[in-house]
Amino acid sequence: MKRKILAAFAAAGALCVSAANPIDKSFPPERVMSLGSYYYPEQWPMEQWDRDLSLMADMGIDFTHFGEFAWGVLEPEDGKFDFEWLDKAVDIAAKKGLKVVLCTPSATPPVWLTKNNPDVLTRRDNGVRIEHGRRQHASWSSEKYRRYVARIVEELAKRYGNNPAVIGWQIDNEPGHYGLVDYSDNAQESFRRWLKEKYGTIENLNKTWGTNFWSEKYQNFDQILLPSAVQTIEKPNPHAMLDMNNFHADEVSGFVNMQADILHKNVSKDQWVTTNLIPMFNPIDVPRFDHLDFTTYTRYPVVGTSGIGGQGFRIGIPEDIGWPNATFRNGPGKAFGVMELQPGQVNWGEFNPQPLPGALRMWIYHIMGDGGRFVCNYRFRQPLTGSEQHHYGMVGPDGVTLEPGGHEFVRLSKEFDELARHYDKKARMPRELADRRSAILMDMNSVWETEFQPQTNQWNSHGHLKKYYNTLTAMGAPVDVISEREDFGQYPFLIVPAHQLVDSALVARWDKYARDGGNLVITVRTGLKDRNGKLWEAPFAAPIHDLAGIDSVYFDHMPGHIYGKVSFDGKDYDWNNWADVISPRKGTESWGVYADQFYAGKTAVTHRRHGKGTVTYIGVDTDNGALEADALRKLFAEAGVTADRLPYGIVRTWRDGGFNVVLNYTSDPYDYALPAGAKVLVGEATLPPAGVLVYKL
Ligand code: GAL
Repeated sequence: MKRKILAAFAAAGALCVSAANPIDKSFPPERVMSLGSYYYPEQWPMEQWDRDLSLMADMGIDFTHFGEFAWGVLEPEDGKFDFEWLDKAVDIAAKKGLKVVLCTPSATPPVWLTKNNPDVLTRRDNGVRIEHGRRQHASWSSEKYRRYVARIVEELAKRYGNNPAVIGWQIDNEPGHYGLVDYSDNAQESFRRWLKEKYGTIENLNKTWGTNFWSEKYQNFDQILLPSAVQTIEKPNPHAMLDMNNFHADEVSGFVNMQADILHKNVSKDQWVTTNLIPMFNPIDVPRFDHLDFTTYTRYPVVGTSGIGGQGFRIGIPEDIGWPNATFRNGPGKAFGVMELQPGQVNWGEFNPQPLPGALRMWIYHIMGDGGRFVCNYRFRQPLTGSEQHHYGMVGPDGVTLEPGGHEFVRLSKEFDELARHYDKKARMPRELADRRSAILMDMNSVWETEFQPQTNQWNSHGHLKKYYNTLTAMGAPVDVISEREDFGQYPFLIVPAHQLVDSALVARWDKYARDGGNLVITVRTGLKDRNGKLWEAPFAAPIHDLAGIDSVYFDHMPGHIYGKVSFDGKDYDWNNWADVISPRKGTESWGVYADQFYAGKTAVTHRRHGKGTVTYIGVDTDNGALEADALRKLFAEAGVTADRLPYGIVRTWRDGGFNVVLNYTSDPYDYALPAGAKVLVGEATLPPAGVLVYKL
């Protein structure tokens, strides 16, 4: 191919800086990266605020973050507000030159609210009501709770909406109920309303849910309960589960969007509105938070997992930061920051190691390299009492001595000041990288559906998606994780992993994408069902047959201790997670075939030209991703596109402004082959573990 087609893609997408968005005023791209720190004035004696905020400013931190859990002190009695303390804190911050992010406190209703109105509380499916004493215990589905929330949000917005020290707002905190599924009466009623709106009649619902089987049939919507594995024998109805996941995703995003509307109505256009989400955490579906100016995420990479090599447990793994970067920068507003990042040791991991010196700095360079505008560390001071003891801050328990994370922030602040001087507005992504731009298409419906009906205990939806992400980043490809709301046409490569739920409009878009010159890659499970999770009354995956150039497909799985083999370009690869056994049509190439089992000789990987582009079908999910990687490498080679061969743990990204960023998540030093003429701005070509290299060409 096809230099011309690639050039068109490159021109369309090489510079991904968002259009007018209030984030640009607070965090202009040419600032490269701004740093912030959480501070809870209500947790510390007022006499210490001046000292603490002075220190924060002296460290080179640009903004602080107040008030996210402060409802109890902001509204100590129903309808009686006390903003004086917050006025004072904002005022001190402003005097120190710190900008302020304010929060809506809807994650922590005051005790009077829930004691007087216990009906606003959430409930587990075992009937236990969640009581006052922690956070996230109120129901998004309670109209009454929403009214209380709306009132405090409006009061805050009116008071601080034009305060020049306040740059923006975070709504709630990690909305998501920390995994609790709310079975309160409010949620049950709201679910029934949601179903009525979706289906109109109970007959439609019965048909879609397939309730004639097992006499599951409902006579009216009032008989329906949120599905629960505790309340049913065996797993609940799969369509009810899919609807429930969608309902919860709508409910939480609706709760946040409702607050965003109040803020937008009452605050200056220069103040932005966001929330901080836990990535890939049910029921979060980032694109639905579309009343926000942009989204942010929260991250704690070192919490007792193994990582890469002997010191990996202190460094974390690259996709824990890279994947959310790739997702959130394509979310609402097309810009992102990281609202919480681990400052050091935390208190809630499986075990809580000290991060490797330098790891915090490297994570922040990862966020910078992927286009993030700011990082706010969680938190400035280590708490002495109450929740989250043993959680590090920027400063230790004495409140004044910098912890290692504090020192790293001081260093970063200086480095980013220096990098900002090298920001080149005219820099464009190098052609070599732009040619590799790849999008991974993700739809939560397919994730929910394949997780609920995995079909093999080795299925891992997130793992499958991230395998492709890791493969592409190892090839040095800039990767975006996108939703169906995006224009596919801006990417030379579009990967559609396990996109099980489709409709004809989506398949037509994929078809057009390939015909227009794109390289479409579909993987296992894609196209098996309609949007409601119904199998087609047709051969398996019938809607993608024409697109992929195949006649039929069925799938197989093996036990975890036995491996089947696929031959691909003269090499054998092990698999046992998932195999699509494919019959290609004439004209469709068979790139990989099964080497054993009763279907030996049948196709595992296909490839065909389609219009000006190509369609590749990788029908196998392997443990180590080796087959998937080699199939993508072959595709790149056929498309005339180069690829790096970076070991797992070495990350290379390109950031607007012209910065090439290289990171080392492994436990060993790594020698990076610096291109001739590179001007090194940070670090050196041999990167130590958790090392960073930034260069310009
Ligand atoms: C986050 C949460 C913060 C704080 C932090 C501790 O998940 O949003 O409020 O609890 O964990 O590491």
